[in-house]
Amino acid sequence: MLTQESLVRFRGAVSAYKDTPGSLIQVMHEAQGIFGCLSYEVEKTIAEEMNMPLADIYGVATFYSRFNLEPKGLYQINVCMGTACYVRGAQMILDKIIDMLGVGVGHTTADGYFSLEAGRCFGCCGLAPVMTVNEAVFGSLTVPGAEKIIRDYMKKAAGGE
Ligand code: FES
Repeated sequence: MLTQESLVRFRGAVSAYKDTPGSLIQVMHEAQGIFGCLSYEVEKTIAEEMNMPLADIYGVATFYSRFNLEPKGLYQINVCMGTACYVRGAQMILDKIIDMLGVGVGHTTADGYFSLEAGRCFGCCGLAPVMTVNEAVFGSLTVPGAEKIIRDYMKKAAGGE
């Protein structure tokens, strides 16, 4: 979030890179660490500080998947779409979760509780299809099984846990 305090921190961090060619990625990392994501306002701030066109900042932010354009949710859901998971129905699971949350991949629900990502092979193909919610790993998923897991997290979120 852009607060006066975070802006001061950011400007302090950026001053070290400002005149170093090729330092944009580093500056964007600093910005994501300080503000939590690279929202439109944050991208505008980077453009101003680095004296660069906003379009260039946006282009880099959208090119690298490690940059988040929106704040992450309290619960970060990541559905594996690697080959082993895909052939075992990961797309149907992902579609179900999109339906339940009302947001697509790469987005966060308006209440800030859930963000959804689609990944590539989590290294546990024997458990395919797989999804993670924060640090928890769920394997051998079915559509109803994934639905129940997400519903349980929704109850947790509603209960303030
Ligand atoms: S493809 Fe999903 S864990 Fe490997």
